[in-house]
Amino acid sequence: MYFCNYTMTLLLSVVFMSSLLMSAVAGNFSSEFDITFGDQRAKILNGGQMLTLSLDRFSGSGFKSKNEYLFGRIDMQIKLVPENSAGTVTAFYLSSEGAGHDEIDFEFLGNLSGDPYTVHTNVFSQGKGNREQQFHLWFDPTKAFHTYSILWNPQRIIFLVDNNPIRVFNNLESHGVPYPKSQPMRLYSSLWNADDWATRGGSVKTDWTKAPFTASYRNFNAEACLWTAGSSSCASNSASSFKAGAWQDQALDARGRNRIRWVQQKQMVYNYCTDIKRFPQGLPPECKRSRFL
Ligand SMILES: *[C@@H]1O[C@H](CO)[C@@H](O)[C@H](O)[C@H]1NC(C)=O
Ligand SMILES: *[C@@H]1O[C@H](CO)[C@@H](O)[C@H](O)[C@H]1NC(C)=O
Repeated sequence: MYFCNYTMTLLLSVVFMSSLLMSAVAGNFSSEFDITFGDQRAKILNGGQMLTLSLDRFSGSGFKSKNEYLFGRIDMQIKLVPENSAGTVTAFYLSSEGAGHDEIDFEFLGNLSGDPYTVHTNVFSQGKGNREQQFHLWFDPTKAFHTYSILWNPQRIIFLVDNNPIRVFNNLESHGVPYPKSQPMRLYSSLWNADDWATRGGSVKTDWTKAPFTASYRNFNAEACLWTAGSSSCASNSASSFKAGAWQDQALDARGRNRIRWVQQKQMVYNYCTDIKRFPQGLPPECKRSRFL
């Protein structure tokens, strides 16, 4: 009897908590985002549940979140430009504004039909980036939606693809490496032409006879601390449903360590931390300090 009651209460509170979370994070593109450029090339569909960006020879398009975040986990399902996407770049990133900005980037570099996309990642802290790692995916990202996530907490940044960590950037402030931790960031995405560098170093150009190029978005989810009027709502709101998020102190678990080891061994195509020629003065300090960069 006691057991039953207890289980019931627990169950109810779990249901309540998750509905609270859901309502806090419901990913409605109409209410959560603004179109930044491209006019009609950015379309919000299905009552805010779906968004498409397109690129033609006159312009690309983009959107940004109305909210600013200071730490959080952001998930987005994206279906990238299909077939011949050479020369196109779909960017999905968090960025602060102004000088000395912080930024956490995913960029998807298109390719000829049948050739793999390159997932380009970078982390800027206080205006300084140059921390590129690039990967090929283990699936065709144009055939279906896949989930791309940025987990950003005070200790580390984790890039995930379908919940598999592909990169970690640790907070190594104690070793003199600036870490993004005090500037709130918005989420941005854009689709644009970068055929001067994107595909095979710029040697393959965009085929405009295939335009418009279109990428699709759905199921945006932000479990994050919202930044409003100079303060973060996780700090001020102790009863916040954000507390339910495991992201706040999340690190790699055993499965995560296995996955990232596999991705970094098999799927990584560029790592700034091994590019000795690029850094004749010595590799950046974070490269020596942590295993998974
Ligand atoms: C999304 O927001 C828009 C405008 O704020 C609203 O009209 C629409 O019904 C919402 N969609 C859903 C699925 O709740
Ligand atoms: C395009 O395909 C080529 C050949 O497989 C590959 O080397 C390259 O990394 C791919 N991605 C880009 C963006 O060029």
